[in-house]
Amino acid sequence: MSGADGSGGKSGSRRSAAGRRNLHVRVKTARGRRLSSTLWLQRQLNDPYVQRAKDEGYRSRAAFKLTELDDRFHFLKKGARVVDLGAAPGGWTQVSVARTDAEKGKGKVIGIDLQEVDAIPGSELYVLDFMENDADLKVKEWLGGEADVVLSDMASPATGHKQTDHLRIMALAEAAALFAHDVLTHGGSFCAKVLQGGAEQDLLVMLKQDFKSVKHVKPAASRSDSSEMYVLATDFRGRSEADEDIDD
Ligand SMILES: C[S@@+](CC[C@H](N)C(=O)[O-])C[C@H]1O[C@@H](n2cnc3c(N)ncnc32)[C@H](O)[C@@H]1O
Repeated sequence: MSGADGSGGKSGSRRSAAGRRNLHVRVKTARGRRLSSTLWLQRQLNDPYVQRAKDEGYRSRAAFKLTELDDRFHFLKKGARVVDLGAAPGGWTQVSVARTDAEKGKGKVIGIDLQEVDAIPGSELYVLDFMENDADLKVKEWLGGEADVVLSDMASPATGHKQTDHLRIMALAEAAALFAHDVLTHGGSFCAKVLQGGAEQDLLVMLKQDFKSVKHVKPAASRSDSSEMYVLATDFRGRSEADEDIDD
């Protein structure tokens, strides 16, 4: 697929990700609206994935990132138990339900967010900060056991200060990797949003100890002008007995 960015900045028509012909919409800077907000709005209005998400009933364009990752690497298996960290507004949870057959009672999908998420049939949604003490124990109780897959598309609200935002997203990814270590079953998978550059090395060292395979992937639906990527770690080696003692 091409045109993930959608912010080409030129007038005229072009084909969208869904193969439709779209007119490029220009947004005028209104009084009181910052240039960055105007550019964001213009990008949203011209983003083929935003339109496709509306057409296909997904709550976010991010749904296409997970769809593409799973089409390539097949980690959302039928009957799997999945934890979606940072689930709001729910696109990744919708994809997870569909791929695991959770609506048919086969898999189990749990979405967690600081904000409330409107109900998604086939999933259980909880308002929870995954960094809270005992969040891992709560999740295992809700799942009725360990997870096969931990997903994290988490981001904190942008401050506009690039380095601060970068560090915050990487801190969330690292905390999510520790969480995954606590809840995953042997052989399980972890998929998380990361940003290129900076403090990524620590996370990679941690993941390589825990998983047999670790890859970086940039799905087409991830905007080409952003440094966002996804790390996919598969085949969890399991916790050592020493870890289990600490948990007790
Ligand atoms: C980019 S959105 C996720 C979009 C989602 N994957 C989708 O497809 O709809 C990131 C979410 O991470 C959540 N988040 C950030 N920090 C969190 C935390 N400590 N615990 C739980 N959720 C968190 C935010 O509230 C936000 O809703």
